[in-house]
Amino acid sequence: MAQPPIHHNPPRPTATMLPSTKTALLTLTTLLLGSTTSQTIYTGDTLQGYPIISSLDITDVPSNTISRFWLSPAEGQGGLPYFLPIFVARGSEESAHSGKRLSLSASIHGDELNPVAVVQKIFARLNETGRFPGNSSGRQHDEVSAGGFNGTIIGLPTQNPQGNLLNQRNFFTSSSNGFFTNLNRVFPGVTIEEGGGLPDAYAAAIWNDVWGNTTNVDVAVDFHTLSTGSLGPLWCYADYRLDGVQRLAELLEADMIKIDPGEPGSIETTWVEAGVPAITVEIGPGNIWNATLINRTVDYAFRLMEDLQMFGDSSGQVVPDLSETYIVTNFSGTAVSYSGWAEVDVGVLEDVEEGQVIGRVYNSWGDKLEDLSAAVSGRVLDVLVDPAVEAGTGVVTIGYNATASD
Ligand SMILES: *[C@@H]1O[C@H](CO)[C@@H](O)[C@H](O)[C@H]1NC(C)=O
Ligand SMILES: *[C@@H]1O[C@H](CO)[C@@H](O)[C@H](O)[C@H]1NC(C)=O
Ligand SMILES: *[C@@H]1O[C@H](CO)[C@@H](O)[C@H](O)[C@H]1NC(C)=O
Ligand SMILES: *[C@@H]1O[C@H](CO)[C@@H](O)[C@H](O)[C@H]1NC(C)=O
Ligand SMILES: *[C@@H]1O[C@H](CO)[C@@H](O)[C@H](O)[C@H]1NC(C)=O
Ligand SMILES: *[C@@H]1O[C@H](CO)[C@@H](O)[C@H](O)[C@H]1NC(C)=O
Ligand SMILES: *[C@@H]1O[C@H](CO)[C@@H](O)[C@H](O)[C@H]1NC(C)=O
Ligand SMILES: *[C@@H]1O[C@H](CO)[C@@H](O)[C@H](O)[C@H]1NC(C)=O
Ligand SMILES: [Zn+2]
Repeated sequence: MAQPPIHHNPPRPTATMLPSTKTALLTLTTLLLGSTTSQTIYTGDTLQGYPIISSLDITDVPSNTISRFWLSPAEGQGGLPYFLPIFVARGSEESAHSGKRLSLSASIHGDELNPVAVVQKIFARLNETGRFPGNSSGRQHDEVSAGGFNGTIIGLPTQNPQGNLLNQRNFFTSSSNGFFTNLNRVFPGVTIEEGGGLPDAYAAAIWNDVWGNTTNVDVAVDFHTLSTGSLGPLWCYADYRLDGVQRLAELLEADMIKIDPGEPGSIETTWVEAGVPAITVEIGPGNIWNATLINRTVDYAFRLMEDLQMFGDSSGQVVPDLSETYIVTNFSGTAVSYSGWAEVDVGVLEDVEEGQVIGRVYNSWGDKLEDLSAAVSGRVLDVLVDPAVEAGTGVVTIGYNATASD
């Protein structure tokens, strides 16, 4: 049986609360629950009808149910709390332990919006499967064989609502006249008590209070897009050195896979370093919703659930179709040497040859300043479509395999 929500009304722990007070409150909560393990902590407040929690433990949220929670990872200057919406699709009672636990997270960069729709639509489609009837319709869904769901999915559709507000990729802090931090470089974060700054504490709250420092998660996918101003396909970064990652990448049926050693502090690499298979999925351009790419990514999530046996039918092994997937180990960026106006001749996923002229830069009069050429043979991943360039800006990325002869 799922634990009912335990409501208690201590203030949400804040940076100003003495650690001893926090410990005492947590100990009291633990005693009240008669449990020595972690648990979902309800602050007692609600927002738009959904409970606010300060810590998630997937084993005590209602089974056979898609729950919605809010969690506040930090407060900004002026006392403005940020709130993250959290979906938890929890399957049959026993499958919190026996089934896989999957994290699907989106938009840690505030201008990356296809991922928002992807996570929202995954949970809408999960609801339509009829496998999450809630507690009310009796016990039959306690068994996967009776149409229940085998496992748990945590969904974070908007990890950086402040970035959404500012129409900004990065996270703004107001100290020192204002500063932008790339949140995807500061995971797993550092709490305020341990000496972290606001962005570090924000990341630590997601890592510890949502994902339970991996205790809530076995497999993870973090959804992104290119930066605003570029066009691209559906592709991913994948660190094949960890078992399980290649499978995650192949199931995407991507246009391109970049086999990649990862980026320290990113969500993906933090998972991989903790031994949790994870990839970064890149879904086309920033700041738009592209239904084709969104649908392909939602379909991926359901292939992945099938592969993780979350629908209970282990009979159907998923065989990904890799016929259109171009796999590379390296990127070559073509950058401009002058500030001006860039014209690009090649499109996304076009094959190019080393030395091929792929565009040019003009000055304010329309005089050509330089030709742009491909430094390698390979396939175009992304193309800058914003023509106003500064010297040093990359305008085209080409995916290719570096070989010993390079
Ligand atoms: C789920 O069912 C259990 C047992 O009947 C009950 O204690 C609990 O309150 C229910 N949870 C919800 C969210 O309805
Ligand atoms: C979930 O699906 C049921 C029908 O199965 C529907 O009545 C309900 O509105 C859906 N809930 C959401 C949040 O989409
Ligand atoms: C997560 O747990 C590991 C031990 O399992 C610990 O070494 C690490 O410091 C924890 N990470 C964070 C961010 O708390
Ligand atoms: C969506 O993406 C696909 C694949 O990259 C592309 O062919 C299509 O033109 C895009 N649609 C829109 C409306 O941008
Ligand atoms: C995306 O999927 C939805 C739901 O299945 C469908 O209604 C829509 O037509 C699809 N859009 C595209 C562009 O494939
Ligand atoms: C549930 O998932 C686990 C992990 O993938 C798997 O071992 C188990 O067989 C699945 N259970 C059912 C009933 O499919
Ligand atoms: C690049 O190398 C990978 C393995 O390292 C291989 O699977 C892939 O087919 C190669 N791609 C191309 C375009 O040759
Ligand atoms: C290709 O990528 C690998 C892995 O990141 C790197 O070690 C290597 O230096 C790159 N090769 C070239 C030619 O850039
Ligand atoms: Zn991103």
